[in-house]
Amino acid sequence: ISRKGSTLVREIREKQSMNKSRQRFWELAGSKLGNILGVEKTAEQVDADTAVVGDDGEIDFKEDAKFSQHMKKGEAVSDFAKSKTLAEQRQYLPIFSVREELLQVIRENQVIVVVGETGSGKTTQLTQYLHEDEYTTNGVVGCTQPRRVAAMSVAKRVSEEMETELGDKVGYAIRFEDVTGPNTIIKYMTDGVLLRETLKDSDLDKYRVIVMDEAHERSLNTDVLFGILKKVVAGRRDFKLIVTSATLNAQKFSNFFGSVPIFHIPGRTFPVNILYSKTPCEDYVEGAVKQSMTIHITSPPGDILIFMTGQDEIEAACHSLAERMEQLVTSTTREVPKLLILPIYSQLPADLQAKIFQKAEDGARKCIVATNIAETSLTVDGIYYVIDTGYGKMKVYNPNMGMDALQVFPVSRAAADQRAGRAGRTGPGTCYRLYTENAYLNEMLPSPVPEIQRTNLGIVVLLLKSLKIDNLLDFDFMDPPPQENILNSMYQLWVLGALNNVGGLTELGWKMVEFPLDPPLAKMLLTGEQLGCLDEVLTIVSMLSVPSVFFRPKDRVEESEAAREKFFVQESDHLTLLYVYRQWKEHQYQGDWCNDHFLLVKSLRKAREVRSQLLDILKTLKIPLTTSGHNFDIVRKAICSAYFHNAARLKGVGEYVNCRNGMPCHLHPSSAIYGLGYTPEHVVYHELILTSKEYMRCVTAVEPHWLAELGPMFFSVKDSDTSMLELKKMQKEEKTAMEEEMENLRRVQAEAEIEN
Ligand code: CDP
Ligand code: MG
Repeated sequence: ISRKGSTLVREIREKQSMNKSRQRFWELAGSKLGNILGVEKTAEQVDADTAVVGDDGEIDFKEDAKFSQHMKKGEAVSDFAKSKTLAEQRQYLPIFSVREELLQVIRENQVIVVVGETGSGKTTQLTQYLHEDEYTTNGVVGCTQPRRVAAMSVAKRVSEEMETELGDKVGYAIRFEDVTGPNTIIKYMTDGVLLRETLKDSDLDKYRVIVMDEAHERSLNTDVLFGILKKVVAGRRDFKLIVTSATLNAQKFSNFFGSVPIFHIPGRTFPVNILYSKTPCEDYVEGAVKQSMTIHITSPPGDILIFMTGQDEIEAACHSLAERMEQLVTSTTREVPKLLILPIYSQLPADLQAKIFQKAEDGARKCIVATNIAETSLTVDGIYYVIDTGYGKMKVYNPNMGMDALQVFPVSRAAADQRAGRAGRTGPGTCYRLYTENAYLNEMLPSPVPEIQRTNLGIVVLLLKSLKIDNLLDFDFMDPPPQENILNSMYQLWVLGALNNVGGLTELGWKMVEFPLDPPLAKMLLTGEQLGCLDEVLTIVSMLSVPSVFFRPKDRVEESEAAREKFFVQESDHLTLLYVYRQWKEHQYQGDWCNDHFLLVKSLRKAREVRSQLLDILKTLKIPLTTSGHNFDIVRKAICSAYFHNAARLKGVGEYVNCRNGMPCHLHPSSAIYGLGYTPEHVVYHELILTSKEYMRCVTAVEPHWLAELGPMFFSVKDSDTSMLELKKMQKEEKTAMEEEMENLRRVQAEAEIEN
């Protein structure tokens, strides 16, 4: 009873403090908005679509005088970062108060799970504590991140805290970029990088400790690493593993490693007032923009964080925000407080990413528009307002269609709570959910589906096979992927020629593993070698591995499209990319030339880097660079070899159907083929994106007999006579045959084990 009583007291206290902060909030917000939003009646609800700012950006500023005074006082919310030295800041973090106990538990155990609120100091401090406790005297402390942005920004921060040059004692490695050196003792890296390192050194001898950070994100690579690191732990007594996690999943991680200790870092958070939309929001970009304008104009200082879905939506939101601010400034004689609009997503160039951490000038408010990257991987201080659209982008694999698609999905309740929590780090905050409470309670999943259960496993299968883990169905997965996905991925690898009939790696497969590329791109490269056009294909693969090189500013759309068209190669977007790169090279890789032609020099430079790294790998494999000269047909043929699963046949104007599953797909308006009004009978495409329609991105016209020649298991010359149904039946039979073979293999192996 007494325990119940104390919970009750706590709850009441919490409610009281919530009410207080809420009250304070609305007092400060001024009655006008309160009336419009009907807050006085139901304090829980806010209609996100209602805002003070009209579509035309008109606003009555007089009534908000109270607020502008407030802003002008200008006392910034948190001058913490400014006024304290880095060393002082470190001591203020929650993790610091438990430093000794934590180190003691680490000394006594080989594996531990560390749980703590985002921002408690796990990512930046753990590695340094381990260094201070002398784990780096005989080995490296590695820390994995599911996202490259986090790996880079955290490494930078820690190098500053340790007063060393980035890349010296503290460094980072992400795919195609290694900023570490012989002195590096703390290495941040993406989980993908560590996974690849296990290929070369399965015991990870170089590392003394691995911190698997953000494990709760359950990225594909993290999940695979779990199984692999479990083996390393068993085989190396001197090796330590620390798994960090948000509260979610901690027990599960502990169980996976045999009930290892869970260490909790005490939290330090403030209450967050959660307001739901009364009605479902029709356009979440618009809804978020309106809500942030409302906050900016009527609410006390404090930065805003918007959770958006992807790069396009973020750019649209930023653009719209900037436009409205401009309209506001021109439509009033009053001084409008500044709004610093800052996008953040993984493909954003690093220098722009760093901006979100910088302090805004006095009196200005930051508005960060982010993907779910800001949920846990990045912590920005000073956020008082969170706007949650309730959506996120997820790569989802559809095994029936055999393809990945990046789709917008409602986030899980756990993710929504995590998002809301970002508002309560510096003081009591507010989270505006642009969805109804009913949606939260009844439509959202309690927790996210691990990536391993929803993506194409091609590259993972390839990696595990090369680690001699032959029977993937027996691999120690924390949550095994659906068998259907494994078999389908194996089937695709078999089609690409990477696996033989009994599921073992072929010679081609072994070579493909060497490249940190998706299997189809690795295949394209190696076919380029065979057909004697490696130089061309190498450039194309590099260009496909970086963000788009075409720059299309919203206010100069026509000009930029005209510039883009000049590079078009009629039959192929891939060849268009090749042409762009070659032209850039011809102009001495100049930046000015790029700007003149609406090309993003950063992307091109990155492509050049990727190219040189892939070239290094080719050199170590002793594969010479060949060129096709002016024969671009063989380049198209090499492209064709990578994409059987993405072959499509013409059906109407700009309209195609996937050759294997009959799914409709369309030429994207940005495609060179579309632009030049050419309609080839057969095409292959790099990926499918689902927006208003299923669009094929990056398309190349191919000859049907190439499909037959290169992918005989899919296509025969009289393909067009084969009905969809028959084709499906054939595929199914092939797949069953393969599954049977695998089953046989398993049995043989099992018998062999018994004999041993
Ligand atoms: O990993 P966890 O979420 O527990 O915290 P962290 O990433 O180690 O962040 C601790 C603190 O370091 C944050 O509150 C930020 O103030 C600061 N930080 C920063 O200023 N810049 C970064 N790039 C990363 C962290
Ligand atoms: Mg962290």
